[in-house]
Amino acid sequence: MGFENLIFTEENGVATLTFNRPKALNALNAALLGEFIELLETIARNEAIRVLILTGAGEKAFVAGADISEIARCNVLQARLFAEMGQGAIARLQKLSIPVIAAVNGYALGGGSEIAMGCDFIYASEKAAFGLPEINLGIIPGFGGTQRLPRLVGSGLAKELIFTGRMLSAAEAKEIGLVNRVCPPQELMAAVLETARSIAVKGKVSLRAAKGAINGGLDVDLESGCRIERDAFALCLASADAKEGTSAFLEKRKPVFTGSLKD
Ligand code: COA
Repeated sequence: MGFENLIFTEENGVATLTFNRPKALNALNAALLGEFIELLETIARNEAIRVLILTGAGEKAFVAGADISEIARCNVLQARLFAEMGQGAIARLQKLSIPVIAAVNGYALGGGSEIAMGCDFIYASEKAAFGLPEINLGIIPGFGGTQRLPRLVGSGLAKELIFTGRMLSAAEAKEIGLVNRVCPPQELMAAVLETARSIAVKGKVSLRAAKGAINGGLDVDLESGCRIERDAFALCLASADAKEGTSAFLEKRKPVFTGSLKD
């Protein structure tokens, strides 16, 4: 897979996708977004990948937003298509059945924050900064930011951040619950890899069920969410990993999960 704007590596089930346009602070142009969507489809089909990490190339940025030079040239119809493409990419990311961790190494602005919010959780470098600064350009977030940010931090805070376009430090982002953990820059990837590896050895079927139950339940009432959970719980019992996990406990040994789809 040769990509111009992305770097992709995989080791022992842990894959890393790096946004790679460091000269433009990894800003999302149509070419990069096209490659991102293509790579997400490939990842979705690769049974060997257990966990995906997203990060940015260079010292400064995760992703500094959609490419402003492309936005400036858009007419109304092109802007609609560009937003559709960005929203589609992040929806595809969120729908991956495997866990996805954002390793935010620097600026995560506009589309960068929107991508991080489409991941399952975020670890950030002390040098990271988050924000939806589109208001300063006379536009609004177009890759799902007006929808995901209020769901994650509440509507009052989301409105303040979107109306002011203010940047948040990593520490502030952790305080409002957007970020799980803040690390010194040189320790970020090691911390993310350690968590990714500890997830990669769990049962694939149960990870998929847990993610599906959480995501599926977020936008429905509690009773409907609990129905999603019990169906997913019951399905897990059909997996080889559930047999292995419960037997290993009773036999007082460590489980070895294969993720086999045979029961
Ligand atoms: N789109 C296109 N190019 C971008 C970009 C973006 N979103 N963000 C940064 N760049 C480019 C700059 O134009 C500059 O290119 P140049 O060297 O050819 O002039 C290069 O990346 C480095 O950025 P620069 O602004 O010089 O770095 P800085 O350290 O002074 O500032 C930021 C960093 C992130 C604060 C600043 O680049 C910024 O505000 N970017 C835009 C963020 C934004 O509004 N995102 C939402 C877009 S919808």
